[in-house]
Amino acid sequence: MAEFEPVLLRNVGVENSASLKVYTQRGGYRSAAKALKMNPENVVEEVKRANLRGRGGAGFPAGVKWGFLPKGRKITYLCVNADESEPPTFSNRVLMENDPHQLLEGILIAGYATRTTTAYIYMRVEFHEQFHILQKAVDEAYEAGWLGKNIQGSGYSLDCYIHRGAGAYVCGEETGLIESLEGKRGQPRIKPPFPAVEGLFHKPTVVNNVETLCCVPHIIERGADWFTSVGPPHSTGPKLFCISGPVKRPGCYEAAMDITVRDLVYGEQFGGGMSDGKELKAVMPGGVSMGIITADEIDCKLDFEDPRNYGLLGLGTSAAVVIDTDTDMRDVLYNICRFFGTESCGQCTHCREGTAWAMRIADRLRKGAGRKEDLDVLVDVANNMGMMPGMNICGLSDGAAFPIRMIVEKFRAEFEEHIRNQRPGRVLEVLETLR
Ligand SMILES: Cc1cc2nc3c(=O)[nH]c(=O)nc-3n(C[C@H](O)[C@H](O)[C@H](O)COP(=O)(O)O)c2cc1C
Ligand code: SF4
Repeated sequence: MAEFEPVLLRNVGVENSASLKVYTQRGGYRSAAKALKMNPENVVEEVKRANLRGRGGAGFPAGVKWGFLPKGRKITYLCVNADESEPPTFSNRVLMENDPHQLLEGILIAGYATRTTTAYIYMRVEFHEQFHILQKAVDEAYEAGWLGKNIQGSGYSLDCYIHRGAGAYVCGEETGLIESLEGKRGQPRIKPPFPAVEGLFHKPTVVNNVETLCCVPHIIERGADWFTSVGPPHSTGPKLFCISGPVKRPGCYEAAMDITVRDLVYGEQFGGGMSDGKELKAVMPGGVSMGIITADEIDCKLDFEDPRNYGLLGLGTSAAVVIDTDTDMRDVLYNICRFFGTESCGQCTHCREGTAWAMRIADRLRKGAGRKEDLDVLVDVANNMGMMPGMNICGLSDGAAFPIRMIVEKFRAEFEEHIRNQRPGRVLEVLETLR
Protein backbone atom coordinates (compact mmCIF):
# COMPACT_ATOMS: atom_id res chain seq x y z
CA MET A 1 0.00 0.00 0.00
CA ALA A 2 1.33 3.47 -0.92
CA GLU A 3 2.07 6.02 1.81
CA PHE A 4 -1.13 7.85 2.70
CA GLU A 5 -1.64 11.21 4.38
CA PRO A 6 -5.10 11.58 5.97
CA VAL A 7 -6.79 14.87 5.18
CA LEU A 8 -10.49 14.34 5.97
CA LEU A 9 -9.71 13.05 9.46
CA ARG A 10 -6.62 15.19 10.03
CA ASN A 11 -8.26 17.10 12.88
CA VAL A 12 -9.72 14.08 14.66
CA GLY A 13 -8.10 13.69 18.06
CA VAL A 14 -6.93 17.32 18.17
CA GLU A 15 -8.20 19.09 21.28
CA ASN A 16 -11.22 21.31 20.56
CA SER A 17 -11.15 20.27 16.92
CA ALA A 18 -14.80 21.31 16.46
CA SER A 19 -14.07 24.94 17.31
CA LEU A 20 -13.56 27.66 14.73
CA LYS A 21 -10.40 28.75 16.55
CA VAL A 22 -8.66 25.40 16.20
CA TYR A 23 -9.98 24.88 12.68
CA THR A 24 -8.59 28.21 11.46
CA GLN A 25 -5.33 27.72 13.38
CA ARG A 26 -4.88 24.50 11.41
CA GLY A 27 -5.42 26.15 8.03
CA GLY A 28 -9.21 26.08 7.91
CA TYR A 29 -11.18 28.46 5.65
CA ARG A 30 -8.05 29.14 3.54
CA SER A 31 -9.64 27.23 0.67
CA ALA A 32 -12.87 29.17 1.01
CA ALA A 33 -10.94 32.45 0.85
CA LYS A 34 -9.18 31.15 -2.27
CA ALA A 35 -12.43 29.94 -3.89
CA LEU A 36 -14.20 33.25 -3.24
CA LYS A 37 -11.54 34.95 -5.40
CA MET A 38 -12.10 32.47 -8.24
CA ASN A 39 -14.78 32.53 -10.87
CA PRO A 40 -17.58 30.12 -9.72
CA GLU A 41 -17.36 28.25 -13.07
CA ASN A 42 -13.66 27.63 -12.44
CA VAL A 43 -14.45 26.14 -9.05
CA VAL A 44 -16.91 23.74 -10.75
CA GLU A 45 -14.26 22.92 -13.37
CA GLU A 46 -11.66 22.12 -10.71
CA VAL A 47 -14.07 19.75 -8.94
CA LYS A 48 -14.94 18.16 -12.30
CA ARG A 49 -11.25 17.71 -13.10
CA ALA A 50 -10.72 16.09 -9.70
CA ASN A 51 -13.40 13.53 -10.64
CA LEU A 52 -14.84 13.75 -7.14
CA ARG A 53 -17.45 11.01 -7.09
CA GLY A 54 -20.29 11.28 -4.58
CA ARG A 55 -19.59 9.54 -1.28
CA GLY A 56 -23.28 9.02 -0.42
CA GLY A 57 -23.61 5.72 -2.25
CA ALA A 58 -24.26 6.30 -5.93
CA GLY A 59 -20.77 7.61 -6.82
CA PHE A 60 -22.04 10.26 -9.23
CA PRO A 61 -19.39 12.92 -10.07
CA ALA A 62 -20.12 16.06 -8.02
CA GLY A 63 -18.79 18.57 -10.55
CA VAL A 64 -20.90 17.04 -13.32
CA LYS A 65 -23.98 17.23 -11.09
CA TRP A 66 -23.31 20.91 -10.38
CA GLY A 67 -22.95 21.46 -14.13
CA PHE A 68 -26.53 20.18 -14.70
CA LEU A 69 -28.03 23.24 -13.00
CA PRO A 70 -29.92 25.27 -15.61
CA LYS A 71 -28.21 28.40 -16.89
CA GLY A 72 -29.91 31.69 -15.96
CA ARG A 73 -31.68 30.24 -12.89
CA LYS A 74 -32.75 32.70 -10.21
CA ILE A 75 -32.67 30.44 -7.14
CA THR A 76 -30.53 27.42 -6.27
CA TYR A 77 -30.66 25.35 -3.12
CA LEU A 78 -28.00 23.11 -1.66
CA CYS A 79 -29.20 20.15 0.40
CA VAL A 80 -26.53 18.49 2.47
CA ASN A 81 -27.37 14.86 3.01
CA ALA A 82 -26.51 14.07 6.62
CA ASP A 83 -29.21 11.43 7.01
CA GLU A 84 -26.64 8.62 7.19
CA SER A 85 -29.08 5.78 7.78
CA GLU A 86 -27.35 2.94 5.96
CA PRO A 87 -26.43 0.25 8.48
CA PRO A 88 -23.60 0.29 9.71
CA THR A 89 -22.33 3.62 8.36
CA PHE A 90 -21.00 6.33 10.66
CA SER A 91 -18.37 8.28 8.71
CA ASN A 92 -20.57 11.40 8.30
CA ARG A 93 -21.13 11.33 12.04
CA VAL A 94 -17.37 11.25 12.68
CA LEU A 95 -16.86 14.21 10.35
CA MET A 96 -19.62 16.35 11.84
CA GLU A 97 -18.69 15.52 15.41
CA ASN A 98 -14.98 16.20 15.09
CA ASP A 99 -14.64 18.69 12.29
CA PRO A 100 -17.91 20.54 11.60
CA HIS A 101 -16.13 23.55 10.08
CA GLN A 102 -14.59 21.33 7.41
CA LEU A 103 -18.14 20.53 6.31
CA LEU A 104 -19.21 24.18 6.51
CA GLU A 105 -16.21 25.19 4.40
CA GLY A 106 -17.19 22.57 1.83
CA ILE A 107 -20.77 23.87 1.86
CA LEU A 108 -19.54 27.44 1.41
CA ILE A 109 -17.35 26.54 -1.59
CA ALA A 110 -20.00 24.31 -3.19
CA GLY A 111 -22.61 27.00 -2.55
CA TYR A 112 -20.44 29.66 -4.15
CA ALA A 113 -19.66 27.43 -7.15
CA THR A 114 -23.34 26.70 -7.76
CA ARG A 115 -24.54 30.24 -6.87
CA THR A 116 -26.62 28.88 -4.01
CA THR A 117 -28.02 31.34 -1.49
CA THR A 118 -29.51 28.84 0.96
CA ALA A 119 -28.09 25.55 2.19
CA TYR A 120 -30.01 23.05 4.30
CA ILE A 121 -28.23 20.35 6.25
CA TYR A 122 -30.67 17.46 6.56
CA MET A 123 -29.58 15.53 9.62
CA ARG A 124 -30.95 12.30 10.99
CA VAL A 125 -32.79 12.88 14.24
CA GLU A 126 -30.69 10.42 16.21
CA PHE A 127 -27.65 12.70 15.86
CA HIS A 128 -28.43 14.70 19.04
CA GLU A 129 -24.89 15.53 20.07
CA GLN A 130 -23.73 16.12 16.51
CA PHE A 131 -26.64 18.51 15.94
CA HIS A 132 -25.52 20.70 18.85
CA ILE A 133 -21.88 20.58 17.74
CA LEU A 134 -22.80 21.52 14.19
CA GLN A 135 -25.23 24.24 15.25
CA LYS A 136 -22.48 25.79 17.39
CA ALA A 137 -20.16 25.72 14.38
CA VAL A 138 -22.84 27.35 12.20
CA ASP A 139 -23.26 30.11 14.81
CA GLU A 140 -19.49 30.62 14.96
CA ALA A 141 -19.26 30.77 11.17
CA TYR A 142 -21.99 33.43 11.04
CA GLU A 143 -20.22 35.45 13.73
CA ALA A 144 -16.89 35.25 11.91
CA GLY A 145 -18.42 36.20 8.57
CA TRP A 146 -18.01 32.78 6.90
CA LEU A 147 -21.79 32.53 6.55
CA GLY A 148 -24.44 35.19 6.08
CA LYS A 149 -24.39 38.34 4.02
CA ASN A 150 -21.42 39.43 1.92
CA ILE A 151 -19.07 36.69 3.12
CA GLN A 152 -15.61 38.13 3.85
CA GLY A 153 -16.47 41.14 1.68
CA SER A 154 -16.77 38.96 -1.44
CA GLY A 155 -20.29 40.06 -2.33
CA TYR A 156 -21.44 36.42 -1.99
CA SER A 157 -24.10 35.60 0.63
CA LEU A 158 -25.10 32.19 1.97
CA ASP A 159 -27.51 31.15 4.70
CA CYS A 160 -27.23 27.72 6.25
CA TYR A 161 -29.88 25.90 8.30
CA ILE A 162 -29.84 22.53 9.98
CA HIS A 163 -33.04 20.54 9.57
CA ARG A 164 -33.53 17.44 11.67
CA GLY A 165 -35.36 14.53 10.05
CA ALA A 166 -37.81 12.30 11.89
CA GLY A 167 -35.79 9.10 11.45
CA ALA A 168 -36.53 7.33 8.18
CA TYR A 169 -33.99 5.51 5.99
CA VAL A 170 -35.79 6.55 2.83
CA CYS A 171 -35.30 10.24 3.70
CA GLY A 172 -31.64 9.70 2.80
CA GLU A 173 -32.76 9.21 -0.80
CA GLU A 174 -32.37 12.66 -2.29
CA THR A 175 -35.97 13.26 -3.36
CA GLY A 176 -37.36 11.69 -0.17
CA LEU A 177 -35.10 14.14 1.65
CA ILE A 178 -36.45 17.03 -0.40
CA GLU A 179 -40.08 16.05 0.27
CA SER A 180 -39.32 15.76 3.98
CA LEU A 181 -37.59 19.17 3.97
CA GLU A 182 -40.71 20.64 2.40
CA GLY A 183 -42.65 19.34 5.40
CA LYS A 184 -44.28 16.43 3.62
CA ARG A 185 -44.08 12.67 4.13
CA GLY A 186 -40.63 11.47 3.08
CA GLN A 187 -41.64 9.66 -0.08
CA PRO A 188 -39.22 9.73 -3.03
CA ARG A 189 -40.32 11.47 -6.20
CA ILE A 190 -40.48 10.02 -9.69
CA LYS A 191 -37.47 11.16 -11.75
CA PRO A 192 -37.07 12.97 -14.08
CA PRO A 193 -37.21 15.79 -13.32
CA PHE A 194 -33.98 15.41 -11.33
CA PRO A 195 -33.33 17.78 -8.40
CA ALA A 196 -30.77 19.80 -10.40
CA VAL A 197 -33.66 20.95 -12.58
CA GLU A 198 -36.59 20.76 -10.15
CA GLY A 199 -35.77 20.00 -6.53
CA LEU A 200 -36.52 21.73 -3.25
CA PHE A 201 -39.62 23.95 -3.52
CA HIS A 202 -39.46 22.99 -7.23
CA LYS A 203 -36.28 25.02 -7.72
CA PRO A 204 -32.90 23.80 -9.02
CA THR A 205 -31.21 21.93 -6.17
CA VAL A 206 -27.93 20.19 -5.53
CA VAL A 207 -27.94 17.29 -3.09
CA ASN A 208 -24.55 16.19 -1.82
CA ASN A 209 -23.34 13.93 0.93
CA VAL A 210 -21.37 15.26 3.94
CA GLU A 211 -18.15 13.44 2.99
CA THR A 212 -18.40 14.59 -0.63
CA LEU A 213 -18.56 18.20 0.52
CA CYS A 214 -15.73 17.68 3.01
CA CYS A 215 -13.48 16.74 0.06
CA VAL A 216 -14.13 20.05 -1.70
CA PRO A 217 -11.89 22.38 0.40
CA HIS A 218 -8.96 19.99 -0.12
CA ILE A 219 -9.49 19.98 -3.90
CA ILE A 220 -9.43 23.77 -3.94
CA GLU A 221 -6.43 24.00 -1.62
CA ARG A 222 -4.27 21.29 -3.17
CA GLY A 223 -5.67 21.19 -6.69
CA ALA A 224 -7.42 18.58 -8.82
CA ASP A 225 -4.09 17.01 -9.82
CA TRP A 226 -3.35 16.16 -6.20
CA PHE A 227 -6.84 14.67 -5.79
CA THR A 228 -6.52 12.48 -8.88
CA SER A 229 -3.09 11.31 -7.71
CA VAL A 230 -4.74 9.64 -4.70
CA GLY A 231 -6.19 6.21 -5.55
CA PRO A 232 -7.06 4.67 -8.93
CA PRO A 233 -8.18 6.92 -11.83
CA HIS A 234 -11.86 5.95 -11.59
CA SER A 235 -11.93 6.30 -7.78
CA THR A 236 -9.97 9.41 -6.91
CA GLY A 237 -9.28 11.12 -3.62
CA PRO A 238 -9.28 10.17 0.04
CA LYS A 239 -12.18 8.05 1.29
CA LEU A 240 -13.55 7.10 4.68
CA PHE A 241 -14.14 3.42 5.47
CA CYS A 242 -16.09 2.15 8.47
CA ILE A 243 -15.64 -1.29 9.91
CA SER A 244 -17.73 -2.94 12.60
CA GLY A 245 -18.30 -6.43 13.96
CA PRO A 246 -15.84 -8.86 15.57
CA VAL A 247 -12.58 -7.13 14.63
CA LYS A 248 -9.92 -5.85 17.02
CA ARG A 249 -10.21 -2.21 16.00
CA PRO A 250 -13.70 -1.33 14.77
CA GLY A 251 -13.87 2.30 13.66
CA CYS A 252 -13.72 4.84 10.87
CA TYR A 253 -10.52 5.02 8.82
CA GLU A 254 -9.27 7.12 5.94
CA ALA A 255 -7.42 5.65 2.97
CA ALA A 256 -7.08 5.83 -0.78
CA MET A 257 -9.48 3.62 -2.72
CA ASP A 258 -6.76 1.13 -3.52
CA ILE A 259 -7.32 -0.91 -0.38
CA THR A 260 -9.07 -4.26 -0.35
CA VAL A 261 -11.60 -5.72 2.06
CA ARG A 262 -8.72 -7.90 3.32
CA ASP A 263 -6.70 -4.75 4.17
CA LEU A 264 -9.68 -3.22 5.96
CA VAL A 265 -10.32 -6.33 8.07
CA TYR A 266 -6.75 -7.45 8.76
CA GLY A 267 -4.57 -4.33 8.22
CA GLU A 268 -2.87 -3.21 11.45
CA GLN A 269 -3.83 0.41 10.72
CA PHE A 270 -7.48 -0.61 10.11
CA GLY A 271 -9.55 -3.43 11.64
CA GLY A 272 -6.45 -5.23 12.95
CA GLY A 273 -7.85 -8.72 12.37
CA MET A 274 -10.59 -10.80 13.95
CA SER A 275 -11.13 -10.40 17.68
CA ASP A 276 -11.36 -13.12 20.36
CA GLY A 277 -10.11 -15.87 18.06
CA LYS A 278 -13.17 -15.57 15.82
CA GLU A 279 -13.05 -16.80 12.24
CA LEU A 280 -14.17 -14.72 9.29
CA LYS A 281 -17.24 -15.96 7.45
CA ALA A 282 -18.45 -13.03 5.35
CA VAL A 283 -18.32 -9.28 4.90
CA MET A 284 -20.94 -6.80 3.76
CA PRO A 285 -18.45 -4.17 2.57
CA GLY A 286 -20.64 -1.33 1.29
CA GLY A 287 -23.31 -1.03 3.95
CA VAL A 288 -25.90 -3.80 3.98
CA SER A 289 -27.68 -2.77 0.78
CA MET A 290 -24.75 -3.54 -1.52
CA GLY A 291 -24.77 -7.27 -0.75
CA ILE A 292 -22.32 -9.74 0.75
CA ILE A 293 -19.01 -11.46 -0.04
CA THR A 294 -17.64 -14.62 1.50
CA ALA A 295 -14.32 -14.99 3.33
CA ASP A 296 -12.80 -16.24 0.04
CA GLU A 297 -13.69 -13.02 -1.77
CA ILE A 298 -12.01 -10.43 0.45
CA ASP A 299 -9.49 -9.43 -2.19
CA CYS A 300 -12.30 -7.28 -3.55
CA LYS A 301 -10.98 -3.73 -3.93
CA LEU A 302 -12.85 -0.97 -2.16
CA ASP A 303 -13.17 1.34 -5.16
CA PHE A 304 -16.14 2.37 -7.28
CA GLU A 305 -15.68 -0.44 -9.84
CA ASP A 306 -14.35 -3.69 -8.36
CA PRO A 307 -17.27 -4.55 -6.02
CA ARG A 308 -19.41 -5.25 -9.11
CA ASN A 309 -16.98 -8.01 -10.12
CA TYR A 310 -18.08 -9.80 -6.94
CA GLY A 311 -21.79 -9.41 -7.69
CA LEU A 312 -22.18 -6.49 -5.27
CA LEU A 313 -24.40 -3.56 -6.21
CA GLY A 314 -21.49 -1.13 -5.76
CA LEU A 315 -19.14 0.47 -3.24
CA GLY A 316 -22.13 1.98 -1.43
CA THR A 317 -21.15 3.74 1.77
CA SER A 318 -17.92 1.70 2.12
CA ALA A 319 -18.95 0.65 5.61
CA ALA A 320 -18.10 -2.97 6.24
CA VAL A 321 -19.94 -5.33 8.57
CA VAL A 322 -17.77 -8.28 9.47
CA ILE A 323 -19.56 -11.58 10.13
CA ASP A 324 -17.89 -14.49 11.94
CA THR A 325 -18.45 -18.23 11.65
CA ASP A 326 -20.48 -18.29 14.89
CA THR A 327 -23.15 -16.15 13.26
CA ASP A 328 -26.26 -17.82 11.93
CA MET A 329 -26.99 -16.46 8.45
CA ARG A 330 -30.71 -16.75 9.13
CA ASP A 331 -30.31 -14.03 11.77
CA VAL A 332 -28.38 -11.84 9.35
CA LEU A 333 -31.03 -12.36 6.69
CA TYR A 334 -33.90 -11.68 9.06
CA ASN A 335 -32.33 -8.47 10.41
CA ILE A 336 -31.85 -7.16 6.90
CA CYS A 337 -35.33 -8.16 5.73
CA ARG A 338 -36.90 -6.62 8.81
CA PHE A 339 -34.98 -3.39 8.25
CA PHE A 340 -36.05 -2.99 4.62
CA GLY A 341 -39.57 -4.29 5.30
CA THR A 342 -40.12 -1.53 7.83
CA GLU A 343 -38.27 1.20 5.91
CA SER A 344 -39.98 0.77 2.51
CA CYS A 345 -42.19 3.81 2.02
CA GLY A 346 -44.79 1.68 0.28
CA GLN A 347 -45.33 3.67 -2.92
CA CYS A 348 -44.14 0.92 -5.30
CA THR A 349 -45.79 -2.50 -5.35
CA HIS A 350 -42.60 -4.52 -5.95
CA CYS A 351 -40.80 -2.87 -3.07
CA ARG A 352 -43.72 -2.76 -0.63
CA GLU A 353 -44.87 -6.34 -1.23
CA GLY A 354 -41.42 -7.81 -1.91
CA THR A 355 -39.83 -6.52 1.30
CA ALA A 356 -42.88 -7.65 3.31
CA TRP A 357 -42.85 -11.17 1.81
CA ALA A 358 -39.12 -11.48 2.31
CA MET A 359 -39.48 -10.45 5.95
CA ARG A 360 -42.18 -13.09 6.54
CA ILE A 361 -40.13 -15.87 4.92
CA ALA A 362 -36.94 -14.84 6.75
CA ASP A 363 -38.88 -14.87 10.02
CA ARG A 364 -40.11 -18.40 9.27
CA LEU A 365 -36.56 -19.54 8.49
CA ARG A 366 -35.08 -18.16 11.71
CA LYS A 367 -37.86 -19.75 13.75
CA GLY A 368 -36.81 -23.15 12.40
CA ALA A 369 -40.01 -23.53 10.40
CA GLY A 370 -38.51 -22.98 6.94
CA ARG A 371 -39.99 -24.82 3.96
CA LYS A 372 -38.00 -26.47 1.17
CA GLU A 373 -39.33 -24.04 -1.42
CA ASP A 374 -38.64 -20.92 0.70
CA LEU A 375 -35.14 -20.35 -0.66
CA ASP A 376 -36.23 -20.37 -4.30
CA VAL A 377 -39.19 -18.17 -3.46
CA LEU A 378 -36.90 -15.69 -1.67
CA VAL A 379 -34.53 -15.48 -4.65
CA ASP A 380 -37.50 -15.12 -6.98
CA VAL A 381 -38.99 -12.34 -4.85
CA ALA A 382 -35.61 -10.57 -4.74
CA ASN A 383 -35.17 -10.90 -8.50
CA ASN A 384 -38.52 -9.25 -9.04
CA MET A 385 -38.05 -6.41 -6.57
CA GLY A 386 -35.60 -4.32 -8.50
CA MET A 387 -33.01 -4.77 -11.21
CA MET A 388 -35.40 -3.71 -13.99
CA PRO A 389 -35.33 0.01 -14.71
CA GLY A 390 -38.59 1.84 -14.22
CA MET A 391 -40.16 -0.60 -11.76
CA ASN A 392 -39.47 1.41 -8.64
CA ILE A 393 -39.30 5.07 -7.77
CA CYS A 394 -36.06 4.83 -5.82
CA GLY A 395 -33.11 2.57 -5.14
CA LEU A 396 -34.33 1.16 -1.81
CA SER A 397 -35.88 -1.84 -3.52
CA ASP A 398 -32.62 -2.80 -5.26
CA GLY A 399 -30.78 -2.20 -2.01
CA ALA A 400 -33.10 -4.68 -0.30
CA ALA A 401 -33.02 -7.23 -3.12
CA PHE A 402 -29.23 -7.49 -3.45
CA PRO A 403 -28.38 -8.67 0.08
CA ILE A 404 -31.40 -11.01 0.22
CA ARG A 405 -30.50 -12.74 -3.05
CA MET A 406 -26.76 -12.84 -2.35
CA ILE A 407 -27.10 -14.17 1.21
CA VAL A 408 -29.37 -16.98 0.07
CA GLU A 409 -27.25 -17.84 -2.98
CA LYS A 410 -23.87 -17.70 -1.23
CA PHE A 411 -24.98 -19.51 1.94
CA ARG A 412 -27.60 -21.81 0.47
CA ALA A 413 -26.10 -24.99 1.95
CA GLU A 414 -26.31 -23.50 5.45
CA PHE A 415 -29.96 -22.52 4.94
CA GLU A 416 -30.80 -25.98 3.54
CA GLU A 417 -29.21 -27.62 6.55
CA HIS A 418 -31.36 -25.52 8.90
CA ILE A 419 -34.50 -26.33 6.92
CA ARG A 420 -33.73 -30.04 7.30
CA ASN A 421 -33.05 -29.72 11.05
CA GLN A 422 -35.89 -27.28 11.77
CA ARG A 423 -34.00 -25.70 14.66
CA PRO A 424 -34.47 -22.03 15.55
CA GLY A 425 -31.77 -19.50 14.69
CA ARG A 426 -28.99 -18.68 17.15
CA VAL A 427 -30.44 -15.37 18.34
CA LEU A 428 -33.76 -17.02 19.22
CA GLU A 429 -31.91 -19.90 20.88
CA VAL A 430 -29.97 -17.47 23.07
CA LEU A 431 -33.14 -15.51 23.90
CA GLU A 432 -34.77 -18.79 24.92
CA THR A 433 -32.00 -19.50 27.44
CA LEU A 434 -32.51 -16.04 28.98
CA ARG A 435 -36.21 -16.62 29.75
C1 LIG B 1 -32.88 4.37 0.04
C2 LIG B 1 -31.75 5.31 -0.12
C3 LIG B 1 -31.15 5.88 1.00
C4 LIG B 1 -30.09 6.78 0.85
N1 LIG B 1 -29.52 7.29 1.98
C5 LIG B 1 -28.52 8.19 1.85
C6 LIG B 1 -27.93 8.79 3.01
O1 LIG B 1 -28.30 8.49 4.16
N2 LIG B 1 -26.93 9.69 2.81
C7 LIG B 1 -26.50 10.04 1.55
O2 LIG B 1 -25.63 10.89 1.42
N3 LIG B 1 -27.03 9.48 0.45
C8 LIG B 1 -28.03 8.58 0.57
N4 LIG B 1 -28.59 8.05 -0.56
C9 LIG B 1 -28.12 8.55 -1.88
C10 LIG B 1 -28.80 9.87 -2.24
O3 LIG B 1 -30.01 9.59 -2.93
C11 LIG B 1 -27.93 10.73 -3.16
O4 LIG B 1 -27.44 9.95 -4.22
C12 LIG B 1 -26.75 11.36 -2.43
O5 LIG B 1 -27.14 12.06 -1.28
C13 LIG B 1 -26.06 12.33 -3.37
O6 LIG B 1 -24.91 12.84 -2.78
P1 LIG B 1 -23.46 12.50 -3.34
O7 LIG B 1 -23.55 12.59 -4.84
O8 LIG B 1 -22.59 13.53 -2.74
O9 LIG B 1 -23.14 11.11 -2.90
C14 LIG B 1 -29.63 7.13 -0.44
C15 LIG B 1 -30.23 6.56 -1.57
C16 LIG B 1 -31.26 5.65 -1.42
C17 LIG B 1 -31.87 5.05 -2.63
S1 SF4 C 1 -38.70 1.76 -4.11
FE1 SF4 C 1 -39.60 1.39 -2.09
S2 SF4 C 1 -38.84 3.00 -0.79
FE2 SF4 C 1 -38.44 3.65 -2.92
S3 SF4 C 1 -40.24 4.86 -3.45
FE3 SF4 C 1 -40.70 2.78 -4.07
S4 SF4 C 1 -41.75 1.88 -2.27
FE4 SF4 C 1 -40.76 3.76 -1.60
